[in-house]
Amino acid sequence: MTTYKLLLLPGDGIGPEVMVQVEKVIGALAEAGLAHFETEHDLVGGCAIDAHGVPLTDAALARADAADAILLGAVGGPKWADVAYEIRPEAGLLRLRKDLGLFANLRPAICYPALADASALKRELVEGLDIMIVRELTGGVYFGEPKEITTLPDGTKRAVDTQVYTTGEIERIAHVAFDLARKRSGRVASAEKHNVMKSGVLWKEVVTDVHAAHYSDVALEHVLADNCAMQLVRRPKQFDVLVTDNLFGDVLSDVAAMLTGSLGMLPSASLGAVDAKGSRKALYEPVHGSAPDIAGKGYANPIAMIGSLAMCLRYSFGLGDAADLVDSAITRTLAAGIRTRDIASDGMEVISTDAMGDAIVRELEQATA
Ligand code: IPM
Ligand code: MG
Repeated sequence: MTTYKLLLLPGDGIGPEVMVQVEKVIGALAEAGLAHFETEHDLVGGCAIDAHGVPLTDAALARADAADAILLGAVGGPKWADVAYEIRPEAGLLRLRKDLGLFANLRPAICYPALADASALKRELVEGLDIMIVRELTGGVYFGEPKEITTLPDGTKRAVDTQVYTTGEIERIAHVAFDLARKRSGRVASAEKHNVMKSGVLWKEVVTDVHAAHYSDVALEHVLADNCAMQLVRRPKQFDVLVTDNLFGDVLSDVAAMLTGSLGMLPSASLGAVDAKGSRKALYEPVHGSAPDIAGKGYANPIAMIGSLAMCLRYSFGLGDAADLVDSAITRTLAAGIRTRDIASDGMEVISTDAMGDAIVRELEQATA
C-alpha cells in the first residue's frame, strides 16, 4: 500500500488541539489498513515567529513543497498583533498559498440534518444545504501591487490595495468550478462586482467565455457579490457551485459557514494545478481560524479539521471510500447527539475537543471492524 507523506502544520490558537484529533483519525485509518501516512510536523504563523522570527521558514516551505499534502490548523492571535506587517502570522499562510500555487480553494458548506437547529437560519432554509464555494486564492487584492500606506504632503496618509486579475487566472478557476458542477447538480453561480470594478467586468467576461467554449451542459448564472451575500441568507439552497474571487470568497465563505450551524464545521481544500504526473500540490485546512478566545479550553470543535483530512483523502489520494468512512463517522457522531459547545442546542450535553475526536474515532473503528 502507498505511504503518503503528510506535513502537519498545527499553527496557533486552537490549531494544535484540533490537529491532535486528526492525528487520532490518521492512526485509526492506518490501523484499519485503509491508508498509510508518514507524518512530519513544522511551524507556521505566530509559533514560527516565536521560534524563528518569521511566520514560515524556507525549510518549512521546502518541506511543504516535498509533501504529498499539507494539513494546516490555523494561524494568528492577539499575541502577534504588533509584529511588523510583513512577518505577521497570516503572511505565513499566504506565502504557502502563493509559493505553492494553490489557486483553487474549495469550501463546501454542508448542513448536517442533526445540526439544522444550530443554524442562525430557520431549519427549512438550511436543511439539506450543500454548497461548494470555489474561491480564487492566489490573486486579487490579497496579492496585487502596489499595496502600501504612504504619507501625503499634508502629513495625512494614503492606503492602497490593488485588485488585479488576468484572463488566465480567471480561466483556470472557472474550469475548476465547471468541472465540479458536472459532478454535482450542474449549476454554477459566478459572483463579482462588474457594476463598479474593472476586475469584475473581466471576471464576468472570461467566465462567460469559458462556459460557452467548454461547458454548455452546465447552467451558468452571474450574480453581484453583494446580492449573493443577501441571497445566501435569504434562500441559500438556490446555490450549488459558487465561484468567486479571493476577497469575495473570503467573505461569502464565512457567511456560508454560519448557515451550517457553526464555523467549526467547515473544511477546505486549496489545490494547485495538475502537473505532468497527474498530481497537484494541496493544502487542507479548516475555515474557522485560530479562535484565540477559546484556545486551550477544550471547547474547540475538531470536525472542520477532521473533515479537511477527509477532503485530503478524496482530492489528493483518490481514497474516496476512506473519505466517505470519515465523513459518515462524523455524521453518525452528530446524529448520536454528541456536541461540542459551538453546535449544542439548549439543554444538550457538551463534550470537549478531545472527547469529540474520540467519539469520531470510535465510530470509524466500528465501521471498519
Ligand atoms: C481564510 C482566512 C485567511 C484569509 C486569513 C487568516 C489570512 O480568513 O482562510 O478565510 O483571509 O484568506
Ligand atoms: Mg476567512
